[in-house]
Amino acid sequence: MTAMTPDQLTKQVLAAYAGTPDPRLRQLLTSLISHLHAFAVETGLTRQEWLAGVEFLTATGQKCDSERQEFILLSDVLGISMLVETINNRVTGQGGLGGRSPQEGTATESTVLGPFHMIESPRRELGESIDFVGTDTPCVVRGRVLSADGTPLPGAELDVWQANDQGFYDVQQPGVQPRTNGRGLFTADAEGAFWFRTIVPSHYPIPTDGPVGQLLLATGRHPYRPAHIHFIVTAPGHRPLTTHIFVAGSRHIESDAVFAVKKSLVTEFTHVDDPALAARYGLTGPFQLANFDIVLQPES
Ligand code: BEZ
Ligand code: FE
Repeated sequence: MTAMTPDQLTKQVLAAYAGTPDPRLRQLLTSLISHLHAFAVETGLTRQEWLAGVEFLTATGQKCDSERQEFILLSDVLGISMLVETINNRVTGQGGLGGRSPQEGTATESTVLGPFHMIESPRRELGESIDFVGTDTPCVVRGRVLSADGTPLPGAELDVWQANDQGFYDVQQPGVQPRTNGRGLFTADAEGAFWFRTIVPSHYPIPTDGPVGQLLLATGRHPYRPAHIHFIVTAPGHRPLTTHIFVAGSRHIESDAVFAVKKSLVTEFTHVDDPALAARYGLTGPFQLANFDIVLQPES
């Protein structure tokens, strides 16, 4: 039967999917179809605009390969990645970074994974450097991994990756940076403590040589992310945490291209000029220090 009005058509399409056996798939499709139809009706979507959308999504798929995920980038710049993170970590709370003591029931906030966790981080000893180029002031990153009640988590694993001081990940500069530069897999000690050396990362643009770059250009948005270090932290009996620490005062901290900054994740990197302290980290001169705790939520 031919539907007469947009509303009748939407109902007819929804009815066609009403028998979907998997209840969650049925719920997701019902909601998706309803919202997509409402979008087309509300905007009076033209045939040319529909086709431009199809072509944009086609180009987005064509830009994807084993090292590039343009669809995730699209999700990132539309704020969907961060929305999904936020919805799925509602219970974890607001605590833990910046050296603050954790409050009962709070855990470090999560943020997006991003596309550069594409190669395995090499296992490194506590105190080792993850920077093999050495083009900037050394930086010490240290802290503890704790459970939500403040109990240290010995043996917690920290997978770390970051851009260099020019704003590039190792995988973006083959032949310039050694592969696995800026990456490390660390195990916290018996007190849940971790520390490693690096350099302070720079802010950087997300990749703009594809459809997502065209979208940013067409909408007058800049492509920059504020400086940050990525972490995936795991410990037995606790929910894995994917997060960043953001460098306080970094450019674009108020306008991250992918909407991933949470206030609680912004961390001071302080200048330390103390030869005795430097020697403790195997350094000979001034360095930057970032000191914070990471708090994990027990599995419920
Ligand atoms: C990143 O932080 O590595 C990243 C996140 C989202 C989009 C692009 C890059
Ligand atoms: Fe990043």
